[in-house]
Amino acid sequence: MTRRIGVLLSGRGSNFEALAESCAAGRIPDAEIALVVSNREGAPGIDRARARGIPTRVIPSKGLERETYDRQVAAALDEARVELVCLAGYMRLLSPFFVARFSGRILNIHPSLLPAFPGLEAQRQALEHGVKWSGCTVHFVDENLDAGPIILQAAVAVRDDDTVETLSARILAEEHRIYTEAVRMVLEGSYRIAGRRVLSAAAGR
Ligand code: GRF
Repeated sequence: MTRRIGVLLSGRGSNFEALAESCAAGRIPDAEIALVVSNREGAPGIDRARARGIPTRVIPSKGLERETYDRQVAAALDEARVELVCLAGYMRLLSPFFVARFSGRILNIHPSLLPAFPGLEAQRQALEHGVKWSGCTVHFVDENLDAGPIILQAAVAVRDDDTVETLSARILAEEHRIYTEAVRMVLEGSYRIAGRRVLSAAAGR
């Protein structure tokens, strides 16, 4: 049976599109994006989804208490029979309710080598700190910001002439690559969790 993925986004939607491409091309086998939800009207990611004929929902979050909002999103995901939730530039913290409801089935992509530089403008934070390597991280999501066990990371060298834009562009190419890999791995179930460590299912046996 085709595995059903739900994507939550607030903006541009390039990671969503990379996942949609990967499903279409079989790099994520037997899977499809069943629903894209945005908390923001006019998010370009919603237009991208519509252009691909993927079902979308805009559920405005303004003024709603976190759990009240998350219950609406969870209902939409349930209705679409979503099994795995992928955050892709989703600018909201999740409530304990939502995290428990989709326990172990929520992934996020972040543009730094976590735990360095969580939060907004991670690429700018990395440049200003002066690190020589940055990159991106796919991790399981818990109630805390950019926390949760790390599934995959990719490192990107920082160049002397980098700007936030040039560094972000090289990191983004890696984001698209490892998000696909991580989703495939999680859907396959070819991993196990030991404490905070996400290990290959075969490791340590
Ligand atoms: C990406 O850099 C992602 O790592 C971060 O937000 C950005 C979203 O970009 N969480 P896009 O909307 O997927 O293009």
